[in-house]
Amino acid sequence: MCGIVGYTGAKKAAPILIEGLTGLEYRGYDSSGVAVLENGQIKMVKAKGRLKNLVELTDNGERLPGTVGIGHTRWATHGEPSDVNSHPHISKSGRFAVVHNGIIENYLELRDFLIARGYEFVSQTDTEVIAHLIEYYYNGDPVETLRKVMNKLEGSYALGVLSCYAPDTFYAARKDSPLVVGLGEHENFIASDMPAVLKYTRRFLLIDDGEIVAVSPTAASVFNRNREPVEKQPFTVEWDVSAAEKNGYPHFMLKEIYEQPKAVEATLSPRIKNGDIVLDTIAWTEEQMRTFDKINVVACGSAYHAGMIGKYFIEKLCRIPVEIDVASEFRYRAPIVDNRTLTVVISQSGETADTLAGLREAKKLGSRVLSIVNVVGSSIARESDDVLYTWAGPEIAVATTKGYTSQVAALMLLGLKLARVRGTVTQAQFTELLGELQALPDQIRAVLDRNVEQIQYLSSVYFASNDAFFIGRGMDYALALEGALKLKEISYIHAESYAAGELKHGTISLIEKGSLVIAVAVDKRLQDKMRSNIKEVKTRGATVIALAPVGNNLASEVDHVVTLPDCGEDTYPVVAVTALQLLGYYIASARGCDIDKPRNLAKSVTVE
Ligand code: G6P
Repeated sequence: MCGIVGYTGAKKAAPILIEGLTGLEYRGYDSSGVAVLENGQIKMVKAKGRLKNLVELTDNGERLPGTVGIGHTRWATHGEPSDVNSHPHISKSGRFAVVHNGIIENYLELRDFLIARGYEFVSQTDTEVIAHLIEYYYNGDPVETLRKVMNKLEGSYALGVLSCYAPDTFYAARKDSPLVVGLGEHENFIASDMPAVLKYTRRFLLIDDGEIVAVSPTAASVFNRNREPVEKQPFTVEWDVSAAEKNGYPHFMLKEIYEQPKAVEATLSPRIKNGDIVLDTIAWTEEQMRTFDKINVVACGSAYHAGMIGKYFIEKLCRIPVEIDVASEFRYRAPIVDNRTLTVVISQSGETADTLAGLREAKKLGSRVLSIVNVVGSSIARESDDVLYTWAGPEIAVATTKGYTSQVAALMLLGLKLARVRGTVTQAQFTELLGELQALPDQIRAVLDRNVEQIQYLSSVYFASNDAFFIGRGMDYALALEGALKLKEISYIHAESYAAGELKHGTISLIEKGSLVIAVAVDKRLQDKMRSNIKEVKTRGATVIALAPVGNNLASEVDHVVTLPDCGEDTYPVVAVTALQLLGYYIASARGCDIDKPRNLAKSVTVE
């Protein structure tokens, strides 16, 4: 939540900062601001609302001279979205400006401390205390000053600090919020996420908790909490800038839906070698794989839904109990976890605060933690014992699509590997399932080729619905959860999902003539049961769209059938979800919604 960016070099800073913020807007978009240094003075412009307001106010940054600066795009936590609550925040004398991503938990106490020393506050934010504290403790040595300030702060932060005393240098620091340094040619950057500055560099330093960086055009000097210099190896990302651009698609979400075959293939194929699964980033021995007696899955949002598919898949194949928790609940239910439990943490961004807290809790309880993460070097990846990266490339749209499908693919790969090692599948079953996994990219392509027109048509008919009920059984229920989430988050249609057999225990009272029901009935083994549940809602007047596999005979029971290509019995969710994503997308598009940046949401939720 919130994105920060910083630049120092020979070019005008503000246009580059604004460009960087464009790439970070997915992290929050209720206000933005930049501060630059001009003739030893900090000049600042902030604006409530979308980044375009800042663009207009500053003529895309051109009106602000200065070659060093910091910028911010906000997702409000403390204080409503407004000009004054926007970042940067400036110290009393105007000598320091600060941008911050995270939450300062003890800000009230620090505020009182500063008020008692003559400081006045103009905003309601937690961040303003940082600007004043820096000024209060400033002793001519910015790194030492920041260290002192960090010792006072409780909570999470990635900070960018501009000082009028340093003509071409700015400072940055982090604890529990993402921060990278981009290394250019005679120019350097900071950002919350790499795609923000990918146009300028692919070489990055990953900053660790407690570290402080002094960034000048020619150097990025990193210090640890004891103020000792830290040597860091630059890290080069493979993606090019086009990965973070729309490339002709009207929205990132649609582009990312269409990138799914590639994302799933990139996640699977490097790990399938000579008819076997090779998880070479995982350090456990096969012996250890046999010793786990339980798997815990911890995740949020769509990653949680991906975990649910994983639960069905792994339990069936490996005969290990799999518990799954929403990360924000995991810590508070006294989970039964020990060193025979494998905890699988799933997160596209690798920065979700609740998921990170769940990971730490699991480790504390003695569990080995494997994370399934998309962003290389993210906090979750770094704190896990083992990482299985999804190679989906940067995901920009707030509503995840390729992130989710590649998570499901990774879970299936993990499940199949465990099943093989634990001897719960025969060689023939293993080979067959491996073949099914390898077929997934083509099957997703088939949905994108063959189902899209019908889904566009259905969206044009039903886009004005007020409510939608998604029902399914087994893995189809997990898909129903994801389908409903996709629809509600981007179209603002009230959408709920139910285990199909459960609907009649209360919610069916909401079904009336014309209620829209999406029946996810892809699992052939459960189709007869689904047919009965469909009849229950049809009888009460619902309009039913069924999602079903080729060869289904639901046409006479429902209003519309979206027939999916032939897929594997256990791997089909990766394919079927594509149809649900397209339905959400085209309905939101017909309603004229801001699809890539839905209201109130942020992609990377770094507050608990
Ligand atoms: C946010 C996003 C969701 C995502 C969830 C978990 O709510 O809008 O799309 O599923 O966070 O994010 P993660 O990065 O941990 O997968």
